[in-house]
Amino acid sequence: MDIKHIFVVGAGTMGNGIAQAAAVSGYQVTLMDVSPEQLERARETIAKSTGKLAGKGMISEEQREAALKIELAATLDNVPQADLVIEAATENPEVKLKIFQDLDRLAKPEAILASNTSSISITRIGAATQRPEKVIGMHFMNPVPLMKLVEIIRGLATSEETTTLVFEACRQMGKEPVEAKDSPGFISNRILCPMINEAIFALQEGIGSVEAIDTVMKLGMNHPMGPLALADLVGLDVVLFVMEVLQRDTGDTKYRPAYLLRKMVDAGYLGRKTGKGFYDY
Ligand code: 3HC
Repeated sequence: MDIKHIFVVGAGTMGNGIAQAAAVSGYQVTLMDVSPEQLERARETIAKSTGKLAGKGMISEEQREAALKIELAATLDNVPQADLVIEAATENPEVKLKIFQDLDRLAKPEAILASNTSSISITRIGAATQRPEKVIGMHFMNPVPLMKLVEIIRGLATSEETTTLVFEACRQMGKEPVEAKDSPGFISNRILCPMINEAIFALQEGIGSVEAIDTVMKLGMNHPMGPLALADLVGLDVVLFVMEVLQRDTGDTKYRPAYLLRKMVDAGYLGRKTGKGFYDY
């Protein structure tokens, strides 16, 4: 099968980034969200991001125009035309499983159904469909237009053909695919979220200020941004959710979330998306 049309479900930070990366790489793209406000925000974000990238010569004017032509949709009506569906909806297992059942019903039989999940088992998502061999994880990194990595996760039943096609699609998008086992947090979040959580423990215990912790990791370890600034970028709710999955699914208490992380999520301080996290935006 030749992948020509990519349908992205969910127009949040990850969804709009994935749609943009696909559109500038020559794919026909539909971006779907049930919220008209979210779609409008996605349209603005894509226009701004591609404007910036074109201004720096990182993409051409034609690529920018292709991104501005992404079809925005409020329903799954056009899913039957898609060759590859990438789900980037909220990280809630019930919501995701329901979406995959709908996609399985509507998509053409040969279509691949991918999830951008950062922590939910691909085997479990595949089992909710009648085509587990065509279900795979495509875990993009934030901000998608700039980050090269896509973590590829095969469920127990994912076929070789599906994996090969998805590897090719990632490369066509200018990304570097790396395969990880279907295990809690895969590779990326198994390592990243405990590091962020540890930085929050350090803050909670008064070992250093927000600025001190981030500066140590930036200047001392050459990380492009400190772990607390990164938590604000990723979303504190996402970090908490991943830590809870790691703790529950491995049964290892070393993954317990920091109390301060939980408290900040309770307060609605989720980072950049709410205007307040460890920093103010
Ligand atoms: N589109 C286009 N341009 C963008 C952009 C986007 N989406 N996001 C940032 N930029 C631009 C900025 O506007 C800026 O442009 P300017 O120089 O003209 O002002 C330029 O990129 C550089 O940005 P900054 O000056 O703000 O900062 P940096 O040089 O540090 O680069 C960064 C930004 C690429 C985000 C870098 O800090 C970085 O790599 N940070 C780490 C990101 C990371 O770890 N991501 C993974 C998160 S984990 C994840 O996503 C998985 C999930 O499951 C948790």
